[in-house]
This record gives sequence, C-alpha cells and structure tokens, in this order.
Amino acid sequence: MLTLPTFSTARTQIAGCSISDLVRKYGTPLYVYDQSVIDQRIEDLAAFDRIRYAQKACSNIAILDRMRRKGVVVDAVSAGEVRRAMMAGYSPDPAKHEIVYTADIFDHESLDLAVEHSLHVNCGSPDMIGQLGVRRPGAEITLRINPGFGHGHSQKTNTGGEQSKHGIWHEQVDDCLLRADHDGMMITGLHMHIGSGTDLEHLSAVCESMEKVAMKVGRTLRTISAGGGLPVPYKSDESYVDLDEYFALWDATRNRLSETFGHRVDLEIEPGRYLSAESGFLIAEVRSIKKVGKNLFALVDAGFNDLARPVMYGSHHPISVCGATSDVSSREPVEVIIGGPLCESGDIFTQREGGFVESRPLPMPFIGDYIVIENAGAYGFVMSSNYNSKTRAPEVLIENGQPKLIRQRETFDDLVRGEVIPD
Ligand code: LLP
Repeated sequence: MLTLPTFSTARTQIAGCSISDLVRKYGTPLYVYDQSVIDQRIEDLAAFDRIRYAQKACSNIAILDRMRRKGVVVDAVSAGEVRRAMMAGYSPDPAKHEIVYTADIFDHESLDLAVEHSLHVNCGSPDMIGQLGVRRPGAEITLRINPGFGHGHSQKTNTGGEQSKHGIWHEQVDDCLLRADHDGMMITGLHMHIGSGTDLEHLSAVCESMEKVAMKVGRTLRTISAGGGLPVPYKSDESYVDLDEYFALWDATRNRLSETFGHRVDLEIEPGRYLSAESGFLIAEVRSIKKVGKNLFALVDAGFNDLARPVMYGSHHPISVCGATSDVSSREPVEVIIGGPLCESGDIFTQREGGFVESRPLPMPFIGDYIVIENAGAYGFVMSSNYNSKTRAPEVLIENGQPKLIRQRETFDDLVRGEVIPD
C-alpha cells in the first residue's frame, strides 16, 4: 500500500532546489516538475504488461522523452499528440505498440495521419471503423467500449454511461464486429475508461463487462486496456487505490481470457494523472493582500489561465507558502483566499465545485512571497490559455537536483503570432 502524502503549508524547496533560486532564474508564474516522482509512479505500475501514458495530462516533449526512456508507451488523442510523441522518439509502427490514437472521432488531419503512419487506432465511435476501413482495409484496431456506467471525480470527467459521449455503447458491439468484418479489419484490442478519479467499487463491474465484450470479439483479441483514472490524493482525507487489489482483478480477467483464447492476452493501463500530477508545482508570486469585508485575499500573478482545475471542477489543490526573505513556518496561520489577476470572480484557486469560494489556513503571506500550488502536474499547463492576453508560463524539469528549462515563457510575439489586421 502506498504511503499517503502529508501536505505542509510551508515550503522552501522542490526536489532539492530552492524555490527562491528557481524564481530568480525563471520568474513567475512557473511550472516545475520533479522527475523522481514520475519515476516512482512508473515503478508502482510495473506489474502491468504496458503502461500507456495518457499524455493529455502533461505533454511537454521532454516529459514524453523521459517516459519513453523508462519504457512507458503513449496514448494520443489528436494529431498534435501523435506528432509530439513522434518528436519525443516514439515510433508509430503499430507492431511496436508505442503510440495508440484514442478518440471518439477522426478529424481529417488525424485520419490522414493514421493512414500515413499506419497508426494503431482505438475507435471510440462505430463510425471510426468504417472511416478507417475505407482507407486501411485489414487494419488491426481496438474498440473503446462504454460499459453503460461511469465514475469520476466530477460529472465532467465521468466518461461512461448514457450521458457520456465517449466510447462505443456496449450494446452496439455486434454491429461494430460486422462493420470491422466488412473491411477485413481485425479487432485486437479492447479498452474501457470510465472516468478520472475512479474507485475499486466500480472495478469488478468494469472487468465483468470487459469479459463479456471480449467473448464476443473472440480469439483475435490480444490486448485489454484498463484505461486511466487512477486517483491521487489532493486532500489529506483522500487516498490512492490499492494497486495490488486493482491489478489482481484485472489480472484475473486477463488470465481467464488468455485461457479461453489459448494465447496470452496483454494487460495495459493508461494513466495520466497518476504518473504526473504529484510531480508538478505551480509557483506564483503574491502581488496584493487585501481585506474585502471579512475576507482576506492574497492575489498572485497566476490565474485560471495557468491552472483551470479549481474554476472548472472546483478541484482542491494543496497550497503552501514560501517566504521570499524569511521562513514562514513560524508565522501565525490565517484564513486566506488565494486568487489570481484575471477579470472574473471565479479566478480563485481555493474553491469547491459550484464556485463556492473558500479560505485556507495558511501562514500569513506577504507581498513578494511565493504561493506554491501542488499536485499541478496533470491537467495543469496543458489546460492553460492566453485568456486576458496572458503569456503562458515556462516549464522546468528537475532531475537529480538539477533544474532544466523544458519550455520557455511565452512572449508577446508568441501571443499575437498568426493574427492579421486586414487592409
Ligand atoms: N484514457 C482516456 C481515454 C481518457 O479519456 C483519460 C482522461 C485518461 C486515459 C487519463 O485519465 P487520468 O488517469 O488522468 O485520470 N481535465 C480533467 C481530467 C480529464 C480527463 C480526460 N480523460 C482534470 O483536470 O481532472
């Protein structure tokens, strides 16, 4: 069982590097990743035949390169993600299993790419089968199945059930087999991802559904994928799933299928958050402290353009304070609301689902101190935007105590690139 993290509200270092030094060198707002955390998380999942990183969580090509070197393969949800993976050295050769294109539609660009590179495709809609079949008859494909139920940390990240647009409805599998057969395609993989932040309770139902569908597909099946969704604790009362139990259930399913089909069926897992969330930190500088009625606000130079999860899902992130000139651990805790610079009241990092603003007990922050928003390595930078014409933050990767810049801070020129004033 994994040891639960303890969240401290005072911090001076990340992965052995002084936060003040990092800020002096790279400025704020700043994303920092600790590679040793990613390495540990990869090791945790070693029992699976393949770990397929859902790069949507954090897709910087340096992170992808490190994943590749550790033997982790990738999932790609767009032509852009396929190209990133190839830039990071992954081969599109379907026989190598390194890149799988997983989506609910082909846009024209991704279909062209899937044809050009013979990518392995995980079809999330019946229509994708025929669209690929016309141009690549005989291709081997995976089907993403919606088992009829889902689960997730928020309604927006629940990807199963009738309200979800994801996957092939479990009752339409026979129709998909006919469609595949029409173009001589072979279904070699099955995949189920019911949501992000899933739990063990739903797992046996997922495994049962997987087995049922697998029996329909039959002996062509070579791989089953458990999808992503492994949770990480964002709060002190949250926990990881028991990975031994999680693996045991999937392994038993795989073993039964291997026995029935007379060949080994591989077992994949497809985590995003589990591999990268806890490695990431967003550092911002406190630029204003103000009382508004009974509330104390600390306004920092990062906003929901940098980290959208709190405003989008009411997600909780641990937050700590780093003193610019003095240690904050002896400061009296105060109840403080942490907000950003954007022109909306929702630009608050301390809120829960429904937009309810909350304060946090933190060491009293002063102007010039740093606020460190933790567990920000998944769905952090990748969901950032240029709203309010803000340039996006740089990303730094720390390996063996050495910080390395893996993305430069955007400039004003980056911001307006491509914009045109017509005559
Ligand atoms: N596989 C598929 C097909 C997915 O759609 C996803 C996530 C994953 C794997 C990885 O899920 P994870 O292990 O990271 O939970 N922006 C939201 C999360 C959206 C997830 C979308 N799909 C958030 O910030 O929580």
